[in-house]
Amino acid sequence: MKKLITLAVASALVATVAGCGSKTETAPSTSPAASTSTGAAATAAPAKTEAKKPTIGVAIYKFDDTFMSGVRAAIADAAKDKATVDIVDSQNSQPTQNDKVDLFITKKVNALAINAVDRTAAGVIIDKAKTANVPVVFLNREPLADDMKKWDKVYYVGAKAEQSGTMEGQLLVDYFKAHPEADKNKDGKIQYVMLKGEPGHQDAELRTKFSVQAITDAGLGVEKIAEDTAMWDRVKGQEKMAAFLAANEDKIEAVIANNDDMALGAIEALKAKGYFKEGGKYMPVVGVDATAPALQALGDGTLLGTVLNDAKNQGAATTNVATALANGLVPSKETTGYDVTDGKYIWISYKKITKANMNEAK
Ligand code: GAL
Ligand code: CA
Repeated sequence: MKKLITLAVASALVATVAGCGSKTETAPSTSPAASTSTGAAATAAPAKTEAKKPTIGVAIYKFDDTFMSGVRAAIADAAKDKATVDIVDSQNSQPTQNDKVDLFITKKVNALAINAVDRTAAGVIIDKAKTANVPVVFLNREPLADDMKKWDKVYYVGAKAEQSGTMEGQLLVDYFKAHPEADKNKDGKIQYVMLKGEPGHQDAELRTKFSVQAITDAGLGVEKIAEDTAMWDRVKGQEKMAAFLAANEDKIEAVIANNDDMALGAIEALKAKGYFKEGGKYMPVVGVDATAPALQALGDGTLLGTVLNDAKNQGAATTNVATALANGLVPSKETTGYDVTDGKYIWISYKKITKANMNEAK
């Protein structure tokens, strides 16, 4: 009841204030509750002129991640006139994230947006959210299907990992078809090294699998020379690539990285070995994300290709879905601007990016 009155007060005030200005579409007395309580409200409440925006508690797995920094900015940007976002850093620790979620619930946020540190921990977060009746939108790290089914106010905003893997493989296929000399040992196979993201992350596992599958699907052979995780990290990517080169430089014909940061690290290691100089040695390197530094590398001719991981739309969809839920609406194309699949999933498409179309990713 208290809430109802507060709401009535707020809308009455909005109507009153709107009425004072120039002509307005808002009829001041569409809500009977608002019109009857106007008098009391005007004297009781201090001059608060805006209808209350919902608050969304957002926990990012770690702030120190290039791609997620873009998503984070997009979440805040999309929230501007419709929600208040409280964005926190989980510092790559699931216990820390769980504490942040507890705090959000204590503060009575109206919805949660969670980029899980460990996606298998989503079930615990869903249990907490359900008990407190706070809707939750996961993003970027996809909860297991069984967890997604635990409650109807659970959504996921992300991109299809296999699609990015397939596109990455196709970038290499296009290159090898156009440049037969890239098959250095002339065996009809691409000898590659793989820089993997965090093991268990859907994007790491599926990009690894589908990038290679796209090559064999195109009728080319493949041979893995080495594979290691560099945890999405540029410095680790450089270290792992330096080790691959030290062990097998003469065999390697291509580098597949699960994201751009690791691809850029690999490029640093290759540069240290004399690659990418005018008329010198070349190595095709592909990544995923299309971050700003990756686009720079595409322009420089060091990175062969990447796949746009659409931070802007993933961020906006997260904000819109969480806001709809916070306002008691069912997320749909009408209420969020994005298609909702299977009543729970918002999929944002990937796109192949090379030097030729890099302006589309900017
Ligand atoms: C991936 C992205 C990586 C990293 C990861 C974090 O989608 O390609 O660069 O940000 O998400 O979960
Ligand atoms: Ca070969």
